[in-house]
Amino acid sequence: MANPSLLILPGDGIGPEVMAEVERVIAWFGDKRDLSFDVETDLVGGAAYDAHGTPLHDDTMAKAHAADAVLLGAVGGPAYDDLDFSVKPERGLLRLRKEMDLFSNLRPAQCFDALADFSSLKRDIVSGLDIMIVRELTSGSYFGEPRGIFEEDGQRVGINTQRYTEAEIDRVARSAFELAMRRNKRVCSMEKANVMESGILWREVVTKVHAEYPEVGLSHMYADNGAMQLVRAPKQFDVILTDNLFGDILSDCAAMLTGSLGMLPSASLGAIGENGRPKALYEPVHGSAPDITGQSKANPIACILSFAMALRYSFDQGAEAARLEAAVEKVLADGARTGDLMGPDGGTPISTIQMGDVILAALDASL
Ligand code: NAD
Ligand code: IPM
Ligand code: MN
Repeated sequence: MANPSLLILPGDGIGPEVMAEVERVIAWFGDKRDLSFDVETDLVGGAAYDAHGTPLHDDTMAKAHAADAVLLGAVGGPAYDDLDFSVKPERGLLRLRKEMDLFSNLRPAQCFDALADFSSLKRDIVSGLDIMIVRELTSGSYFGEPRGIFEEDGQRVGINTQRYTEAEIDRVARSAFELAMRRNKRVCSMEKANVMESGILWREVVTKVHAEYPEVGLSHMYADNGAMQLVRAPKQFDVILTDNLFGDILSDCAAMLTGSLGMLPSASLGAIGENGRPKALYEPVHGSAPDITGQSKANPIACILSFAMALRYSFDQGAEAARLEAAVEKVLADGARTGDLMGPDGGTPISTIQMGDVILAALDASL
């Protein structure tokens, strides 16, 4: 049987640095676990703009459609801040999400015990934390029409529209309930039904879908209270279901519960395709980190754990995903720290490449 195919889009800033470590991990699974992928690499974001004048070339879009899974590093950076909005690096990523119809964005936030003192919150609030944010990714205020900057009564007005159809809410709600069935069977849905009609519809549709999942406990929370509760008592949550914009903000907030934004992976999933797999893109939650680019300071763990999610959700390799996650947990327990993981007692940071080295050694030790 042919190897499954992976399209790798390292992108900008620290994207290529963290992806280089993922490529070593991928090679390891080929060598040691007989789990090989046909890997192709291409450009996205500012790198694609520099080469082609667009943040995502049509050929790359076609490759993404054809691949069994896509892995992305990060896009954006100060060099591109003044570009026209239509060709900004972030537009490349948004086009991938929209055209692949990746409506369900899974953003797990787990606090590894070794890092429980590294969060800005107290150890007992975060230790053992294991929550999953399901963020709707292809609609809402990121894509709703009308949008733009218009002239009105002699001044400009900026417009974005929060818009959700019943079908869009239904399908992402279903994915949250399905996940909850395999976890602790609790979903908390977050919107602002107190001030937004889209929130009222969201709550109604989620409640309707819930009737098909009687084993799952459902609660509703206004998203502003949700942000507060995430910081006050995050372990009350199992699965958080929310829209595109609230999910963007709440997931960055959840990142700090785990110790660093450099720890958080994500999976963006769509419908099951002709290959029997969901359309899928895996990427760290963090961005291109311009402040540390080119210094081998970036933490590659978020990107490496994103590949673990690919093993689990695209390739049905849950045991190998768990092997990789255990290797990450082991190096953290042994004290391996990139600069973003300097705890209360300081310590000497290791480089991006050294973090890759110790994770590969832990994988070897797992055999
Ligand atoms: P950022 O996530 O790039 O950085 C925020 C802070 O976290 C910085 O101090 C950075 O050094 C640190 N950080 C992030 N990832 C890290 C890692 N792996 N290891 C160590 N430290 C890490 O967010 P920002 O500064 O708001 O955005 C920078 C650029 O990235 C912008 O152009 C933004 O649009 C883009 N961005 C892209 C994505 C993506 O590609 N998915 C996500 C968020 C932001
Ligand atoms: C994320 C990022 C993106 C978003 C940007 C870069 C388009 O912040 O993946 O969280 O806002 O969705
Ligand atoms: Mn974000």
